[in-house]
Amino acid sequence: MKILVTGGTGYIGSHTAVELIQAGHEVEILDNLFNSKIEVLDIIKDLTGVKPKFYEVDLLDAAATDKVFADNKFDAVIHFAGLKAVGESVEQPLRYYENNISGTVNLLKSMQAHDVKKIIFSSSATVYGDPGVDAFTEDLPTGQGISNPYGRTKYMIEEILKDVSVADPDFEVTILRYFNPVGAHKSGKLGENPNGRPNNLMPIVMKVAKGEYEKLSVYGDDYPTADGTCVRDYIHVVDLALGHIAALNKMAPGVQIYNLGSGKGTSVLEMIAAFEKASGEKLPYEIAPRRAGDLPTLYANPEKALRELSWKTALTIDDAMEDTMRYLRNAE
Ligand code: WQD
Repeated sequence: MKILVTGGTGYIGSHTAVELIQAGHEVEILDNLFNSKIEVLDIIKDLTGVKPKFYEVDLLDAAATDKVFADNKFDAVIHFAGLKAVGESVEQPLRYYENNISGTVNLLKSMQAHDVKKIIFSSSATVYGDPGVDAFTEDLPTGQGISNPYGRTKYMIEEILKDVSVADPDFEVTILRYFNPVGAHKSGKLGENPNGRPNNLMPIVMKVAKGEYEKLSVYGDDYPTADGTCVRDYIHVVDLALGHIAALNKMAPGVQIYNLGSGKGTSVLEMIAAFEKASGEKLPYEIAPRRAGDLPTLYANPEKALRELSWKTALTIDDAMEDTMRYLRNAE
C-alpha cells in the first residue's frame, strides 16, 4: 500500500516507516520537524535502501496538507504527528489543543476530500485516566480522570475518529493505544532523539548516561509496589512498529481499538538496573518527590491484539537496553 506517515521522522514514526518499507509498502512522510531531524530520512535509506518522499508540512497549514493529498493517491494514513509532552501540555493547553486537535481535523478533512479511507491513529494508554485496575483492557472507560491536556487531546481525537466513522461507514479506523515505548533499532542508527528537554524516563536516562545531566531523579519510592517505584509497561519501539503492520493488515470499516504493550510491568528501579546491565556502568540517580499525576502501576492486557491481530511483543527490556546502548555508542 501507499502510506502517508505523519510524524514519520519522529521516534515511533521513523521505526514504523522502516518496518513498513521492509514489509513492502510505499511510504511517504509528512512532518514539521518540530521534534525530529530531517537526517532521519537518510538513516531510513541506510536501513532500507529507500529514502521516503518527504513533505515538511505542518498539519495546521490546511492548504499545504491538502496539496499533499491532491498530489498523491494514498491508500492509508498512519497518524503520529502531535505534541506529546505531558508537563508542557499543562502549561500550554491551547497550544496542545490547537496543534493536536486542529491538526488532526485538517488531516481528516484532506483525507475525506481525496477519498482516503484508512487511518491508524497513534493513541496512548493515558486516555484511560485512572481506571482503578493495573492491567488495562480496551473495554475500560476512557476520558475520565485524565491528568493532562496532552492525554485529553488523544481522547478527543479518538472521539472525533469515532464520529467520522459514524458519518462515513466506509471509513476504516484503527486506534492503537501505546504504553511506554523504549529502545532503538538494532542497527544502532535509529533511536529516541527528541529536541529539547525530554520528559520520559528513558530519554532522560540516556542524557544522564551521556553526562549531559548529572543524575536521574526517581520520582518517588514510596508507592505501593514491590520496590516502591512506579511500574509501567515498557514496549520495545520495534515491537510497537510491527504492531502497526499487523493492524494495517486487518483494517476494516468501523473503529478497532487495541492496546499495544507487553503485558508486563517493570519498575523504575528495575529499568535502572537493566540499563546498568547493558551499559556496564552505574547510573547516578537520587530519590526525588513524587510527580503529580503518576499512577503507581499500569500495564497492558494485550490479549485482544494477540487474538485479533496475531500480534504480541517479542523483544524484552534487556533487548531494549542493549539496543539503546548501541544507539548511544553509535551517536558518540
Ligand atoms: C515513566 C515512569 C515516572 C522521568 C507518559 C505519557 C504517556 C506516554 C508515555 C506518549 C514514571 C518515572 C520519569 C524521570 C522518573 N507518552 N520517571 N524520573 O508517565 O508512564 O507516560 O509517557 O504517548 O501518554 O503519560 O512515562 O516516561 O514520563 O515515566 O522517575 O525523570 O518513570 O514517575 O513512573 P509515563 P514517563
